[in-house]
Amino acid sequence: MTQNTPQAPRFAGKTVLITGGGTGMGFSAAELFLAEGAKVVITGRNADRLKVASERLDGGDRLFAATADVAKPADLDRLLDEVGERFGKLDVVFANAGVGVFKRIQEFTEEDVDYVIDANFKGVFYTVQRSLPLLRDGASIIINASWTHHRGLAIGSLYAATKAAAANLAKTLASDLADRRIRVNAISPGYIDTDMFQESVPTPEEREDSARQSVLQRVGTPEEVAATVAFLASDAAAFVNGVDLLVDGGVVNAIPA
Ligand SMILES: NC(=O)c1ccc[n+]([C@@H]2O[C@H](COP(=O)([O-])OP(=O)(O)OC[C@H]3O[C@@H](n4cnc5c(N)ncnc54)[C@H](OP(=O)(O)O)[C@@H]3O)[C@@H](O)[C@H]2O)c1
Repeated sequence: MTQNTPQAPRFAGKTVLITGGGTGMGFSAAELFLAEGAKVVITGRNADRLKVASERLDGGDRLFAATADVAKPADLDRLLDEVGERFGKLDVVFANAGVGVFKRIQEFTEEDVDYVIDANFKGVFYTVQRSLPLLRDGASIIINASWTHHRGLAIGSLYAATKAAAANLAKTLASDLADRRIRVNAISPGYIDTDMFQESVPTPEEREDSARQSVLQRVGTPEEVAATVAFLASDAAAFVNGVDLLVDGGVVNAIPA
């Protein structure tokens, strides 16, 4: 006779920091981690968006939302002091915040270049660096990169280069932080239906074209990305380290028939 012992939720007793957690993939990840027992910290630049997200997430005292610009180490230090006081140590960091500016190379301004590098590369770098004092040994870090650094997209030069740099951190930091058994992985989502997708692919025709680039003939959902993040954060991925996992429905590696 088999005995059914109730299992503890997958992330019970764990604390997760999600940058850019107020919208899109970060929000879906927050929803999933909360549903699976974690304490969750969400951050972003826009206080109003975070307030709306907090109300929707309804995480009670397991949810903490506070503004921080990931490109500003002082903001991160202030946030992490508050996180330490409230929740103690961190078990998972999802360095997800990012911005997209898509243009032909001739059109980029110096402000565009600084804005995208600041959020997408410096932001990830500082998020990891400043989280280290709070991270437990054996923690998991997941960096949100993008399919665009695997395949050339004409208007993607600036964005894709920052994502290549962010994804590269998974390899170097997997080695750099191995003495603390901290696993560091990246994900490279394909076209995912979020605000960023709606803004950068504005017309229905262009969105259909994006869907057709995947052999699955559709764009992905933020929930599908969140499920991958939770896998990488979980014990099921205990031996997965330094990878850049495509979550793209086959955009990069398969050609639609
Ligand atoms: N959607 C796609 O098709 C796709 C594909 C591949 C990769 N990605 C990547 O996935 C990640 C999540 O994007 P998303 O698609 O979910 O779009 P999104 O809803 O626009 O999410 C981006 C989040 O990042 C936050 N953010 C941006 N700059 C920040 C900064 N300097 N400091 C703190 N927070 C910042 C934004 O909040 P505030 O504005 O309040 O700061 C927002 O919550 C991004 O890194 C993006 O590059 C997206």
